[in-house]
Amino acid sequence: MKKKGIKYVIKKGNEFYPSDEMKKIANITDAKIYEKANKDPVKFWGDLAKKGLTWEKDWNETYTEKLPYFQWFKGGKLNFSVNCVDRHLANPNKTALIWIPEPKDEKPIKISYGELYDKINKFANVLKSYGIKKGDIVSIYLPMIPEALISMLACTRIGAIHSVVFSAFSAEALKARIEDGKAKILITSDGYYRRGKPENLFKKAKQAAKKTTIQKIIVAKRTGTKTRGRNVLDFNEEIEKASSYCKPEIMNSEDTMFLLYTSGTTGKPKGIIHDTGGYAAQAYWTSKWNFDLHPEDTMWCTADIGWVTGHTYGMYGPLLVGATSLIYEGGPNFPNPGRWWKIIQDHKVNVFYTAPTAIRMFMKAPQKWITKYDLSSLKVLGSVGEPIDKESWMWYFRTVGGSRCPIIDTWWQTETGGTLINTIPGIGPFVPTVSGKSFPGTRHSIVDDEGRPTPKGKPGFLVQKSPFAPGMLHGVFNNHKKYVDTYWKKFKTMYDTSDGAYLQNGLIRITGRTDDVMKVAGHRLATAEVENAIHDNKKVDDVAVVPMPDEIRGQVPMAFVVLKKGKPSKKLEQELRKYVDIKIGPTARPKRIFFVSDIPKTRSGKIMRRILKALLINEKPKGLMTLVNPESVDEVKRIINSNS
Ligand code: WT7
Repeated sequence: MKKKGIKYVIKKGNEFYPSDEMKKIANITDAKIYEKANKDPVKFWGDLAKKGLTWEKDWNETYTEKLPYFQWFKGGKLNFSVNCVDRHLANPNKTALIWIPEPKDEKPIKISYGELYDKINKFANVLKSYGIKKGDIVSIYLPMIPEALISMLACTRIGAIHSVVFSAFSAEALKARIEDGKAKILITSDGYYRRGKPENLFKKAKQAAKKTTIQKIIVAKRTGTKTRGRNVLDFNEEIEKASSYCKPEIMNSEDTMFLLYTSGTTGKPKGIIHDTGGYAAQAYWTSKWNFDLHPEDTMWCTADIGWVTGHTYGMYGPLLVGATSLIYEGGPNFPNPGRWWKIIQDHKVNVFYTAPTAIRMFMKAPQKWITKYDLSSLKVLGSVGEPIDKESWMWYFRTVGGSRCPIIDTWWQTETGGTLINTIPGIGPFVPTVSGKSFPGTRHSIVDDEGRPTPKGKPGFLVQKSPFAPGMLHGVFNNHKKYVDTYWKKFKTMYDTSDGAYLQNGLIRITGRTDDVMKVAGHRLATAEVENAIHDNKKVDDVAVVPMPDEIRGQVPMAFVVLKKGKPSKKLEQELRKYVDIKIGPTARPKRIFFVSDIPKTRSGKIMRRILKALLINEKPKGLMTLVNPESVDEVKRIINSNS
């Protein structure tokens, strides 16, 4: 199909810049904003928060800091659901959410702001009727269906704290998160469709809730699977019984709005705490400026709500702006690699946001599946989750964007709440593999081990400097020590992102994690977490997990196992891989398990991951002198080679 649509970028040398057409429509085009914001970031954010959000009461102090904690808009009061829904009701028929079910014979469902308002009020009343009040934690274990958005917003209406758990996580992973937060209610569904088949979610939910603080399980109907049990309620039946107005709970800006568990370097995921006002301010303004989102736009962020990207740009950002959000239930290339692109065509998506792993997958698919659709509605293309290589960037730019749309390579984390480093569509430049600048009013630096800025262009640790962005985490749930150790121990007055970076022509280029965290198809996983899971198996004596580069998934976990009993076999390898599914979920499943008799370790017993990583990619490992068991290296090498 011939490329059509507005050209939003122009080429200058090797770089791309916004075209006049883009500048005409963009929410922000003046590069001076960076300097202006930097003069007084606190005042800058104060002005933005006032302008962008609806407050019930003004704050007394815009920003206070007593490290490692800091507060935004102290004394300010607001309700998050009012900002997402109530304030857009002047036009109640406007579509808030487009939901695309996976089965092709099912029609997409559109939910207007008016309907959404009705549903979240009612569901908020349902939660209240079961004793949920301000500050209580509600566990949400839902697939990509409208009930997810309704549940999350209903929580924010009454000031309950939502804790969403990725639906592909296992019952055990869910249970650990329920127990950490002591949730009283679990919202789930009977199932969902994935690659043409119904998946049973309820079974896992019920198993997870056993012997925990959960008093009621509320189940959304999707696949029609039986969901009987004591204290099991039907989502829709409950909504139908509920009264239609729920007065919004007026929250302090600093009150916790949600928890989201993410992987650190240890075996146990940590509950990242996000506040209400600061998070909302960053979600609103980053949606408007980084994605150039306007109320008349449709945004599709392909991330699952189980991840922070799904929270901030799949659900909340578009609603705060009063735009339309599109979500899709199922597999990206189901029933064929044209699925996503047909959705963009049919629903005239303007802003599309996905991860490099998906881009790499589609790059390898027969291209007719992408080029046959009319993608001229697209305006901005986003990338997130891991570094994007030049080839994938160019493919995304040309094939999806028709060489018309800026690629916004957004760097951020579960901890930062919203994007922080990227170029802005109306400002540019758009340079392959380079993320860009700190969002106006935020400051990052690249430093050496001692926290001193590295010489120009030299790689180092990426840190954030005071004042810390409004969307930043406010702690680790029930774990002050972990909060301090993870983010503040190394650099004291600067937030440690655990990412490496360097400057390229004044723009930040991210090189990847500096800790033992993997990014598997964009999903964040600690090597220690997978090790713990495998170690729990009775047959395992010792285990090491390291990431290996993968063409599509970016990285994949590889495991080295020393057996306590049993003989190495293909069958046992499968058994242990499946065991990880039960402990964490299929995303964490090692690609291969190698049975060895010893794992290379230092004298103090630390696994030498560096050496294992080198052996996996057939490189000569360095620094063998530090090993307590150098002879293990030869064996590992032999076993990898005989298995590949
Ligand atoms: C880690 C955070 C927050 C979005 C989803 C991931 C890596 C994220 C980029 C990017 C290179 C990136 C970092 C970061 N990352 N975006 N544009 N370029 N790396 O959230 O699961 O908390 O993972 O993802 O390593 O620390 P997350």
